Amino acid sequence: MSLSRFLDLADLPRDEILDLLVLAERLQLHPEPAALAGKILGLVFLNPSLRTLASFQAGMARLGGNSFVITPGQGTWALETRLGVRMDGGAAEHIREGLPVLASYCDALGIRAFADGKDLAADLDEANFKAMAALVDKPLINLESAVNHPCQALADWKTLDDLAVAPRSRFVLSWVPHPRALPLAVPAAALHMAALRGHEVVVARPEGYALPSAIMDKARAAARISGGSVTETDDRAAAFAGAQVVYAKEWGSTSYYGDADADARLRADLGHWQVNERAFAPAASDCRLMHCLPVRRNVAVADEVLDGPRSVVLREAHNRLVVQMAVLHRLLA
Ligand code: CP
Repeated sequence: MSLSRFLDLADLPRDEILDLLVLAERLQLHPEPAALAGKILGLVFLNPSLRTLASFQAGMARLGGNSFVITPGQGTWALETRLGVRMDGGAAEHIREGLPVLASYCDALGIRAFADGKDLAADLDEANFKAMAALVDKPLINLESAVNHPCQALADWKTLDDLAVAPRSRFVLSWVPHPRALPLAVPAAALHMAALRGHEVVVARPEGYALPSAIMDKARAAARISGGSVTETDDRAAAFAGAQVVYAKEWGSTSYYGDADADARLRADLGHWQVNERAFAPAASDCRLMHCLPVRRNVAVADEVLDGPRSVVLREAHNRLVVQMAVLHRLLA
């Protein structure tokens, strides 16, 4: 099997995802330091990163290839992404020229472009990412878009496999506090991944933070394929009852999408949604704590959890490298 684009786990048949995980394991046990010799990966980061940036560069190098990184506006021209605008502001170059030029220098391109966070319908439709993807005639990797983060989802799936977490077990996606509204990409991707892996998935979130129906419906469709289930509740203690995995994640209010002030007023009273050791009382005794990182300590998750035996956040982050090497191998080898 070869891949031409890695944009959404939902684009792949479940068996192909399992094949990618087998390949990731193989590359971990039997490195192939020349598999991508002579190949070049371009990485465009319209938003900050630590893990995605470093793990893709490291993965490409470990497979014998090379990479370059563009962070528009930081040593390179700022890129305009809006269509039809008069470019008399700070951006010197438009993506309509910039992205095809960059694609012409490499064998595959990765793009990170977060949600605008203003228009929920446009973000759910991945309007910006689709416009960029249409400009790239090379294998393309989604490094996190408005409502998707397939590399994180694949790493999280591998983490669950590594830990032998049973697919039918209870997986809670739990909203946690953050000083400001964050995008829906990771919660949407984690929810879909857990549903497709076959978990009994419960989304625990306060009123005002329900995930959009398009995201819930996509996860429910995945659950139908795998035999899992997807429900939601604002009763966190009930959600945690018997949980084997708690995936903590911050996201912005969907009731007040794009309204930072209203979101801030709503979240001002939600500090008790922080995940601390007490919250795990109804969960399985060996319940794991997952988070994609970066995490705000003692805002989203308490030190006692992050530094304790439940936390698998470092394994998740390391698995980014492992699974992305498999993706690069499929795209380029
Ligand atoms: N989880 C994740 O994507 O991390 P970065 O934002 O640091 O890349």
